[in-house]
Amino acid sequence: SAAEKGGYDYFMLKEIAEQPKAVADTLLGRIDAVGSLTLDEVRISAAELREVDKVVIVACGTAFHAGMIAKYAIEHWTRIPCEVELASEFRYRDPILGPRSLVIAISQSGETMDTLMALRHAREQGSKVLAICNTNGSTIPRESDAVLYTHAGPEVAVASTKAFLTQLVACYLVALYLGQVRGTKWGDEISAVIRDLSHISGEVERVLETMEPVRELARSLADKNTVLFLGRHVGYPVALEGALKLKELAYMHAEGFAAGELKHGPIALIEEDLPVVVVVPSPRGRSVIHDKIVSNIQEIRARGARTIVIAEEGDEAVVPYADHLIRIPATPTLLQPLVATVPLQVFACELATARGNEVDQPRNLAKSVTVE
Ligand code: AGP
Repeated sequence: SAAEKGGYDYFMLKEIAEQPKAVADTLLGRIDAVGSLTLDEVRISAAELREVDKVVIVACGTAFHAGMIAKYAIEHWTRIPCEVELASEFRYRDPILGPRSLVIAISQSGETMDTLMALRHAREQGSKVLAICNTNGSTIPRESDAVLYTHAGPEVAVASTKAFLTQLVACYLVALYLGQVRGTKWGDEISAVIRDLSHISGEVERVLETMEPVRELARSLADKNTVLFLGRHVGYPVALEGALKLKELAYMHAEGFAAGELKHGPIALIEEDLPVVVVVPSPRGRSVIHDKIVSNIQEIRARGARTIVIAEEGDEAVVPYADHLIRIPATPTLLQPLVATVPLQVFACELATARGNEVDQPRNLAKSVTVE
């Protein structure tokens, strides 16, 4: 009913708008005044976490994209090797697991059969499983050794939005917590990240306030057949997520690529007026990656692409090559997906509406996939 949708036309719009609060709720009570993390509900002892020699993340769809981003954070902040695998592929390749492997299963619903089977396999090998989940008491947390709930509130739209942002926050918390219990050099960078994380909800809010041009752009592309998405570093999973949203909602051909792979094949797809969304990393952090992606934008534009550039405020280097420029607030490099994903959600939702599609219930899809 209209009341359930809180005045929005679709649950998806309501859930996109709820993201600042959802993100704040994921953080609530988990960072103390001096910037230490308390994840009491993670009932895997500090001693066990200190023994972990490998992290393996399993998930599907959007949750898998959160896992891909988590890998960057975990390896960078803890120096523990981290693998990410599609849950549906995991147990069929005889993965190497043991008692010192920490398996993280990410799932909004907690009922995804592929993810459940992957975690059962991991536990059979003696690994500890930590679930990152949005649904209290669902099967995946019940069968895991510990759970970190995302507290995003119920997500009704089939296309995942607030669950994704909160999964990211939960992943950052786990990465930082692992660093904390293992006594990873607690440098200024990490303190700054914790500080920025505690303000991130306001940044997400700011992005939401500037989405009208994105909606307008989406409507102008309603008759296109294909949209490509490029990203690098944590922007690569963001590109994949943007493409998945567009497939699900707009039923368009959408593909995400690592920008560095362009010259190894995908650049052959570029033709006159093809919309290409590029997620640009911060020019401050890893400036080499930034410069490389700027030349990627130049290359595709020289071949006729219509460039839709998502870049940090103050990044002037992209301006000459952007047919459409979407600004996002500056964040630490690893946190950028929290703000960069939001315009892509709005973009896909508006394109779906413009194409006359059912936003909350896309064809052929179910909210949770309880078969393998
Ligand atoms: C996201 O928009 C999708 N509907 C889908 O990819 C989803 O993320 C995937 O099926 C995993 O679901 P889960 O998080 O409930 O396990």
